Amino acid sequence: MKIRHVIDGHEADSLDGATYDDIDPFTRSSYATVARGSEKDADLAVAAARQAFDTGPWPRMGFAERGRLLHRFADLIDQHAAEFADAETRDMGKPITEATGHDIPRAAYNLRFFADHARLSASESLPSDTAHHVYVRYESAGVVAAIAPWNYPLMLATWKIAPALAWGNTVVLKPAEDTPRSAALLGRLALEAGIPEGVLNVVLGHGPVGAALTRHPDVDRITFTGSSATGRAISAAAAHHLTPVSLELGGKGAAVVFNDANLDSAVEWTIKAAFNNTGQICLAGSRLYVQHGIYDEFLSRFKTATEQLRLGDPSDRETQIGPLASAQHFAKVTSYLEDEALGGGQIVTGGYDHDWFVRPTVVVDVPSDSLIQRDEVFGPVVTVTPFRTEQEGVDLANSTPYGLSAMAFTDNLHRAHRVAAGLRSGNVWINCFFVRDLRAPFGGVGDSGTGREGGTFSREFFTEPKSVTMRIDT
Ligand code: NAI
Ligand code: MG
Repeated sequence: MKIRHVIDGHEADSLDGATYDDIDPFTRSSYATVARGSEKDADLAVAAARQAFDTGPWPRMGFAERGRLLHRFADLIDQHAAEFADAETRDMGKPITEATGHDIPRAAYNLRFFADHARLSASESLPSDTAHHVYVRYESAGVVAAIAPWNYPLMLATWKIAPALAWGNTVVLKPAEDTPRSAALLGRLALEAGIPEGVLNVVLGHGPVGAALTRHPDVDRITFTGSSATGRAISAAAAHHLTPVSLELGGKGAAVVFNDANLDSAVEWTIKAAFNNTGQICLAGSRLYVQHGIYDEFLSRFKTATEQLRLGDPSDRETQIGPLASAQHFAKVTSYLEDEALGGGQIVTGGYDHDWFVRPTVVVDVPSDSLIQRDEVFGPVVTVTPFRTEQEGVDLANSTPYGLSAMAFTDNLHRAHRVAAGLRSGNVWINCFFVRDLRAPFGGVGDSGTGREGGTFSREFFTEPKSVTMRIDT
């Protein structure tokens, strides 16, 4: 199989003909050849997007017509669900039921939601005094560079391109090097849906391709999801042209389980939060804090549920835990199971299994300054720590420079609201995890990034709001 760029309405090899291997983490061997882009390919893609924005029909089309094409694009995603599932599973080892049950329907919904949201949005009209009338126009921003990570390749690509396209922008999408296939397929299906040439370009390759996009003077917006280190590099690159950035970076999510929680439900949700997508989620609940009184009971139930998760071939519908996404990532995750990172912490279940597999792992007695408790591990590894008072639970959850996701489990209404207010995090879930209303703001504080996307927050980012003030003769 050959996976190629989609630039200006055509599939293309790299200008210099370079390629690299797409590794299937289950077989640990190459299953496809990928065009390896360079800065020159990124320049071509930006030029195509620029021209499509400056002179093409897309930004000038009404919301109804754009929405119709985006809905057709969404329908094509549904129709190609099997191909997308195979792409995600072979590119990164995602358990196939997560792809078919969650990521692919969500990807199609992202396009439908933002098409409808843009079409139905009203803008503010501000009657100020009898002599003046003010109104707001939300104008397309221009060329959007969307740089996506490898953990939710399709879902996060569409989370970025859907609002960007719905608001009339043109896009250059760069998927992560490990997961190029679903992005290339998106580029082809956009054309099949009738979206004009140059509106959605897909350029494949490694970090330098992303870096070329972020310092390009013809790029008007940068939306990025990935590591905090890369987020900092992008912020610095973007500063040169004052290009607005939206950065959704790493996390070290906490789940605080109070002794008045429904334990069955808390175990079920915290298992999902720790181990869905083999723990490779920025929102993961990788630090569990459990209140004194229920700690032993909770730990015992959590351990039992952890040991029931089925590890195996990600293309098997029974599999819940796949291999880690790449050799590099496998090395990173297993480094956190070494004594030095555990800092005296004890593994009660889990550990290295075979090949690129790590069993769902539960670690207790971890010092707060140990690497496993401080760093984003991004694998099927969770720490469990007891606490006494409500305030201590909140303080422990907040004791990280990240602030992307936090959860609390309690059946006490007052406590739920107090704790939700006290958690320093862009997203808080009470008695659940990963339930997403696409109108709600999504993003993080601190090292987890800057900016919010979702509903009107996406509109703010992907448009140039303009105020028009008119004087009325009186
Ligand atoms: P990364 O941040 O290096 O890669 C994400 C994307 O950025 C990829 O498309 C990559 O090609 C691109 N990129 C890399 N360098 C760039 C640069 N200088 N300018 C522009 N784009 C650039 O993440 P990586 O190395 O794949 O994963 C490392 C760690 O990051 C993971 O172990 C995990 O802890 C965290 N991570 C967090 C994610 C999240 O959802 N917040 C997603 C992926 C990784
Ligand atoms: Mg990298």
